[in-house]
Amino acid sequence: MFPKLLILLPLLGSLVFSQDTSFTYNGFTSANLSLDGLAMITSNGLLRLTNDTKQQQGHAFYTTPISFKNSLNDTAFSFSTTFVFAIASVYRTLSGHGIAFVISPTRGRPGAVPSTYLGLFNETNNGNATNHVVAVELDTIQNPEFKDINDNHVGVDINSLESATSTSAGYYADGGAFMNLTLFSGNPMQVWVEYDGVKKQLNVTLAPIDVGKPKFPLLSLSRDLSPIINKTMYVGFSSATGSLLISHYILGWSFKMNGKAQELALSQLPKLPRGKERSKLLTIGLPVILVCLVLIAISGATYVIKRKRKFAELLEDWEVDYGPHRFKYKDLYIATKGFGDKELLGSGGFGRVYKGVLTTSKIEIAVKKVSHESRQGMREFVAEIVSIGRLRHRNLVPLLGYCRRKGELLLVYDYMSNGSLDKYLFDQPQVTLSWSQRFQVIKGVASGLLYLHEGWDQVVIHRDVKASNVLLDGELNGRLGDFGLARLYDHGTDPQTTHVVGTLGYLAPEHNRSGKATTSTDVYAFGAFMLEVACGRRPIQANGPSEDSILVDWVFSHLSRGEIMEARDPNCGTNYVAEELELVLKLGLMCSHSEAAARPSMRQVVQYLEGDVPFPDLSSLGLCSTGLTFAHGERFDDFFMTYPSSMNKGFSYSSSIADSLLSGGR
Ligand SMILES: *[C@@H]1O[C@H](CO)[C@@H](O)[C@H](O)[C@H]1NC(C)=O
Ligand SMILES: *[C@@H]1O[C@H](CO)[C@@H](O)[C@H](O)[C@H]1NC(C)=O
Ligand SMILES: *[C@@H]1O[C@H](CO)[C@@H](O)[C@H](O)[C@H]1NC(C)=O
Ligand SMILES: *[C@@H]1O[C@H](CO)[C@@H](O)[C@H](O)[C@H]1NC(C)=O
Ligand SMILES: *[C@@H]1O[C@H](CO)[C@@H](O)[C@H](O)[C@H]1NC(C)=O
Ligand SMILES: *[C@@H]1O[C@H](CO)[C@@H](O)[C@H](O)[C@H]1NC(C)=O
Ligand SMILES: *[C@@H]1O[C@H](CO)[C@@H](O)[C@H](O)[C@H]1NC(C)=O
Ligand SMILES: *[C@@H]1O[C@H](CO)[C@@H](O)[C@H](O)[C@H]1NC(C)=O
Ligand SMILES: *[C@@H]1O[C@H](CO)[C@@H](O)[C@H](O)[C@H]1NC(C)=O
Repeated sequence: MFPKLLILLPLLGSLVFSQDTSFTYNGFTSANLSLDGLAMITSNGLLRLTNDTKQQQGHAFYTTPISFKNSLNDTAFSFSTTFVFAIASVYRTLSGHGIAFVISPTRGRPGAVPSTYLGLFNETNNGNATNHVVAVELDTIQNPEFKDINDNHVGVDINSLESATSTSAGYYADGGAFMNLTLFSGNPMQVWVEYDGVKKQLNVTLAPIDVGKPKFPLLSLSRDLSPIINKTMYVGFSSATGSLLISHYILGWSFKMNGKAQELALSQLPKLPRGKERSKLLTIGLPVILVCLVLIAISGATYVIKRKRKFAELLEDWEVDYGPHRFKYKDLYIATKGFGDKELLGSGGFGRVYKGVLTTSKIEIAVKKVSHESRQGMREFVAEIVSIGRLRHRNLVPLLGYCRRKGELLLVYDYMSNGSLDKYLFDQPQVTLSWSQRFQVIKGVASGLLYLHEGWDQVVIHRDVKASNVLLDGELNGRLGDFGLARLYDHGTDPQTTHVVGTLGYLAPEHNRSGKATTSTDVYAFGAFMLEVACGRRPIQANGPSEDSILVDWVFSHLSRGEIMEARDPNCGTNYVAEELELVLKLGLMCSHSEAAARPSMRQVVQYLEGDVPFPDLSSLGLCSTGLTFAHGERFDDFFMTYPSSMNKGFSYSSSIADSLLSGGR
């Protein structure tokens, strides 16, 4: 009896002194835990093991060591624990690593590494029996090296991350059906871990927080834990992050040695941060919003750049004074509907002309696009354009302003509704002009040209007088357009390749020779123009190398035969004033004289046309009596080059004729 008692005493003592540990935390505000790594207790009592930091771990252990074995026969006690956890991945569809409930000989897991090792082991000690670790892993990554079954499983780990048993996360509903659960859904879930020290059986059960404890455990491992664990152990949680952002939370925890752990008061558990919505927003909304913003920004930027490029202009300091004469390229672009082919009025020697309507003022404009690569002389040219733009004369096409772009100059003119004169004269015109209309146009153009030559404090040389540069306004007044434009090319061209600008048939011989435009070269071209209007023929007919093909010579031959009136355009009809017609023809010849000195000035031309000064009677001077000789020929150099066979048939004024014309004109 006595010895029996003696034997029993230490047993009683151990029963008395090894008080079965039990604790319950519905939130961890007042919990006695030792934390390491990222683990922390949030202000509202959540145990947060990790916090969206990569390649880190966090541990939380119950501070007090717990006696896990019967000291008499070294058998592991029964125990039971339950906890609520949540794994919130920033990425809705990708998870980082999981959480493990750990029974460890140490408080914390010194030497352990994060990521796939879950903060439990490291490469060297994984699988070593000296670890004395039992863990229940809630694993969200499939690691082939640890023979993981999938990326969403629950397993029992004994000294190793290679689970002793594991199964896909889920639970058995009342009817027995298996329900899948996603561990990293961010939703809180409850776990029960129960060990029966007699049956040597470890059960693990999992359920969503709003479902009670399922009847059947998820996992059941029959294994005696006695040889694995030490007498005293610590219990806690381990969790680790890898390269993905993830947070691990424990909301509540209850533990009891040798008994059933107290139920958690689920309603009292601390609330998770509004992670669910936030994570939804972050994982789906934010990237979508960001992508949208980036796309909007990119398309916006390209639009702005494109637009900027599309409407880019050249504007230099010296142009500031010309502000009122500058048009915005954008306005011109809109006015001409993007310089569309539909708006194309024509394309001449200097560039294409487009019709447009200014959106704000509704003014009809014609925009001439002149391509010009050289900046040389541009400044002078623009100055001239602008000053010419200030010229106002009823027989000049008003220049409203200009715009400069890279390699391009745009000149903005008033739109002339009746188009250019040449379409009323040549190539079987649909509408022809009567003589009085023609005479009106000739007088108008003469007056416009005189204005350019003398009406301004500087002499403006037109350089390209011809029928196609004369435009008709609504009242069929002739208006001279394109003035001064040729100058741009005189300035801009490379001296090595100097070529004279102007139109063949209107070029005075000395202009071609010296390259120098003068008022007299304008008069020469005006002479050719007058003959064009009166005869309805181009200065040089393209119909072949005959003496008839050069208008001046052709008219002259009529004059010399005494039948100058026969040179008139039959389209004039019969209703013409013979004196006017004769005057125009003779004056045309006089102006187109190959000797500059023999030509009248524009002032004289206007006086003759207006009848202020009588025109000398050329025939009375015996002009027609002499035959035509081949005195000069330089006027037709170009022509001869084109048609060499006509060389010996070509003719020009004899010096005597020139002399008579000259003396007659003065
Ligand atoms: C995570 O916790 C660590 C340590 O407490 C802290 O230094 C870090 O700033 C936290 N990171 C975030 C994203 O909260
Ligand atoms: C927490 O645990 C430590 C170590 O066992 C102990 O010293 C301390 O008194 C405990 N504190 C509370 C509030 O239980
Ligand atoms: C160890 O002792 C306890 C009581 O002290 C007893 O219930 C249990 O069966 C014993 N286990 C073994 C393996 O002897
Ligand atoms: C692994 O952990 C053990 C302690 O558990 C430590 O002694 C050892 O140095 C660690 N090994 C590495 C490679 O970190
Ligand atoms: C297990 O760990 C112990 C102590 O760290 C060491 O002595 C032993 O060699 C390890 N065993 C294996 C198989 O690595
Ligand atoms: C549960 O998950 C497994 C494996 O992921 C899958 O094969 C099964 O179809 C799922 N069951 C339901 C009901 O979703
Ligand atoms: C484990 O679950 C089985 C039912 O599958 C049950 O019979 C057994 O008692 C459970 N063991 C513990 C320790 O809860
Ligand atoms: C000239 O323009 C006016 C007004 O636009 C128009 O009425 C007239 O018919 C036009 N004349 C010719 C010959 O085109
Ligand atoms: C212009 O001058 C060049 C050389 O100076 C000559 O070759 C060409 O024939 C001339 N053209 C005309 C139309 O006179």
